[in-house]
Amino acid sequence: MKAAAIIPMRKGTLHFVDIPVPRISKDEVLVRVVRVGLDGTDREIGMGYYGKAPKGCKYLVVGHESLGIVEEVGRAARSSGLKEGDYVVATVRRPDGCANCAAGESDMCLTGNYTERGIKGAHGYMTRYYKEVPGNLVKIPAAIREPAVMLEPFSIAEKAVTQPFAIQRRMLWKPKVAVVLGTGTVGLFAAMLLRLRGLEVFSADRTASNALKKRIFRSIGIKHIDSKAIGVAGIPEMIGKPIDMVVELTGSPTVIYDAMRMTGPNGITSLVSVTGGSYMEQVDMARLNYEMVLGNRLAVGVVNSNKGHFEEGARDMARIEKMHPGLLRSMITRRVPFGEFNSYDILEDRSQVKVVIEMPGSKG
Ligand code: BGC
Ligand code: ZN
Repeated sequence: MKAAAIIPMRKGTLHFVDIPVPRISKDEVLVRVVRVGLDGTDREIGMGYYGKAPKGCKYLVVGHESLGIVEEVGRAARSSGLKEGDYVVATVRRPDGCANCAAGESDMCLTGNYTERGIKGAHGYMTRYYKEVPGNLVKIPAAIREPAVMLEPFSIAEKAVTQPFAIQRRMLWKPKVAVVLGTGTVGLFAAMLLRLRGLEVFSADRTASNALKKRIFRSIGIKHIDSKAIGVAGIPEMIGKPIDMVVELTGSPTVIYDAMRMTGPNGITSLVSVTGGSYMEQVDMARLNYEMVLGNRLAVGVVNSNKGHFEEGARDMARIEKMHPGLLRSMITRRVPFGEFNSYDILEDRSQVKVVIEMPGSKG
């Protein structure tokens, strides 16, 4: 069967390879891929900045955001309840045996020796079939079948929002105001999740929002801030009340310092987007320290997501779908047939929200 692959750390190497259809053991499930989403990490992989092939292999089959249909269930895997015809989304990271990985939290891996399907040391889902154990699959209810290809990025937003709430149990915390920096897919999801929790949410970006984003802001009740006009540092004054929570999703090094300084007393900033390369700037560390200490402020890095975040994400997607039918699905702005996927250039079109690759014969 055909699979889309790259040679890691080399730019512009996207090509098709021919690999055998996987054969499952009694503990595994065979999944037919319906569609695969692309994101900023895929872009980095395409540019040759990121990504690692499985041991002993020259290429990496890409794709980590997937939706598929169960085609075959191994004898022992039946006890999971999964059956032929079920829609499933696979998690991304695979454990390495450290204590956190063993506890089901490979997103909190201690060693860095984890693998990630389609990203680091394990083939991804950009092909006709893949196999998995049921523990790495999340069953998708019919109501969210259409947006479910975005459950993986949704699970990242889920973690980006639940982690600060978990951390802030350090005190009495009744957050009212949140700022989300960046309005890509995960940024939009994070803003939606914060609205579900009843916060007043400001989403900031530097681009004139297109009609789709405007519709999302209006439907969900998100306030938009044009950070190009006022600068990231100008956001607190513009809002005019203490910011309890900031979710940083631009990954732009020029934003990080101001993102950490943006919160009011006891506030928390989560940094969720990976920055490549290096960037030098003179900043006032005395000022930052003064504000962090006197304000009990904190900043936390957040990466990846575990199965729990996918399950929570599926529930929250269903809630949003019920309140705003079709809104999530409308975020899929471009569908490219698998056979035509020959370059990552499609990710340079910033007017797109989510680009997906449709596998042949996908009807789901
Ligand atoms: C994926 C995560 C992954 C991260 C770093 C993101 O695009 O959604 O699952 O951990 O990249 O590789
Ligand atoms: Zn680990």
